[in-house]
Amino acid sequence: MRCQLKTFFTSLNVAFIMLIVAGASSMLPAARPETSESSVDFSKYVDANGVITRPTEYRKKMVFLGSSAVASVPGKPIDEMHNVYTRPEDVAAFQKDKTFPDGAVLVKEVCKVKSEKLSAGEAHYSSDIKLWFVLIKDEKGRFHGNPHWGDGWAWGLYYPDAPTKNVSTNYKTDCKLCHIPAQKDDWVYVQLYPLLNSR
Ligand code: HEC
Repeated sequence: MRCQLKTFFTSLNVAFIMLIVAGASSMLPAARPETSESSVDFSKYVDANGVITRPTEYRKKMVFLGSSAVASVPGKPIDEMHNVYTRPEDVAAFQKDKTFPDGAVLVKEVCKVKSEKLSAGEAHYSSDIKLWFVLIKDEKGRFHGNPHWGDGWAWGLYYPDAPTKNVSTNYKTDCKLCHIPAQKDDWVYVQLYPLLNSR
């Protein structure tokens, strides 16, 4: 009986050790895909398949570049505020080199407008967010053939009802035509942002 018990506990030990080994090996980092660099090194907003994530912390952690107050219907009152943000390091790089560095991030939030007569005058200011546009600079032509990548940028569009899903279908039809006036400035409307114009 004692001998049987001993054998039982010994086999329990073996099973336990095997469990630990199995657990430890599952904790090892997964092998990285065979690319020259990992997309995580390039941008934390891009995964290995080129899926673009919307930065969520931009209001707190990024630099506010500027706003434009837009009347989306000609002749009608201002009904949108477009607020644009970028990373601190992108401002520094742009001020130095007059160009956005690889991995640079631009976020444009489109907000509804509230209007109110304040002591300074008739004020129009941002209220609820309607949508977000995201651009991530790509100097290397990554993800060739992916419809969200091209002309030196990754292009994303997000709505509050599904804020993690890029609903743009193809940047050439959904974005590029409207950005042609800014083509000479790498597709970005830099003239709107005082920090990028302090030459
Ligand atoms: C109807 C025209 C139009 C479309 C469509 C459009 N944009 Fe823009 N975008 C603009 C204009 C004009 C600006 C300048 C800021 C402003 O007044 O809105 C701008 C600004 C931006 C900015 C801030 C940086 C900059 O260039 O000034 C980002 C980011 C951006 N757009 C991304 C996109 C993406 C991504 C798409 C497609 C999913 C897109 N845009 C589609 C007209 C457009």
